[in-house]
Amino acid sequence: NWNMSNFIDQEIVRIRKLVGDKAQVIGAVSGGVDSTVAAKLMKEAIGDRFHAVLVDNGVMRLNECKQVKETLQQHLGINLTVVDASQKFLGGLKGVEDPEKKRKFIGNTFIDIFEEEAIRIEKAAENTPNAGKVEWFLQGTLYPDVIESISFKGPSSTIKTHHNVGGLPQRMMDGQGLKLIEPLRELFKDEVRALGRQLGINEELVMRHPFPGPGIAIRIIGEVTPERVEIARKADHIFIGMIKEAGLYNKISQAYAGLLTNKMVGVMGDKREEGYIISLRAVVTTDFMTADAYPFDMEFVMKVARRIVNEVEGVANVEYNVTGKPPGTIEMQ
Ligand code: XMP
Repeated sequence: NWNMSNFIDQEIVRIRKLVGDKAQVIGAVSGGVDSTVAAKLMKEAIGDRFHAVLVDNGVMRLNECKQVKETLQQHLGINLTVVDASQKFLGGLKGVEDPEKKRKFIGNTFIDIFEEEAIRIEKAAENTPNAGKVEWFLQGTLYPDVIESISFKGPSSTIKTHHNVGGLPQRMMDGQGLKLIEPLRELFKDEVRALGRQLGINEELVMRHPFPGPGIAIRIIGEVTPERVEIARKADHIFIGMIKEAGLYNKISQAYAGLLTNKMVGVMGDKREEGYIISLRAVVTTDFMTADAYPFDMEFVMKVARRIVNEVEGVANVEYNVTGKPPGTIEMQ
């Protein structure tokens, strides 16, 4: 790419000037491409004075937390803290059925945990060569996010309260007096991917589909219970694995298996057994404002369905959702 190395060099100089040689920077990471690229850039600029925090909210995908940890810590050498808050999140989600209530609870709990972590990080650094105040908060905001929040009040932003690591509320800044640092705010997604490659981030992560902050919680209709999360997780893992094996992953913008939560009657062996319904979704889109269902080969969908019913206990039925956006949305809730 013509100017990516230039961009990296200039950005590193700019970050060093901005942050100085004492202050600490914190940033939430999710394992997604934006937060990972932003984190790696910070690491290159200020080393261990950048602290990445990964909050396990109990509604991440199968093995995801472990994988993110491995990639960021071992492969990219980023100073990372993993906070296992899954019990807290799952506890608070108990009995909550309303999608916006799920989002609000997850968003607010996330900020609470993140604030505690910022204080802990500052304290822990006190008697080390890295001592310094946590003054900056890193966000992986991209140019389209900036545009959308300035000028666009379209379906997605008015229908759902989006929360992700690139869009934490003002409370974060005000409460801690943190200043915002957004090294990707002039870039488009394909530029961030090119930047990621240049920074040595592996192709799988660079091409990863987006994943919402509230995770599997908004891919389960009704109450989020540990049992349901487990089922959705396993089904999703099979679906995404088969998409990858079939060489379709990079042709699809976003795909997942969600759980409908009501039950259908099935036959297991010669027994009548009720089980959950899994809904598969896979869409193609350029801007995530409109989207079409991916036109899988029916044989492929049937193979996925067979494997999910056979391998995921508690599932009796699998369907493929072919609704576009609009009138649908990409997530189930
Ligand atoms: P929808 O469902 O609105 O999704 O068609 C459009 C894009 O936004 C993502 N999305 C979210 N991301 N927090 C996030 O971080 C959210 O609450 C949220 N809701 C939707 C969705 O995954 C898709 O990429």
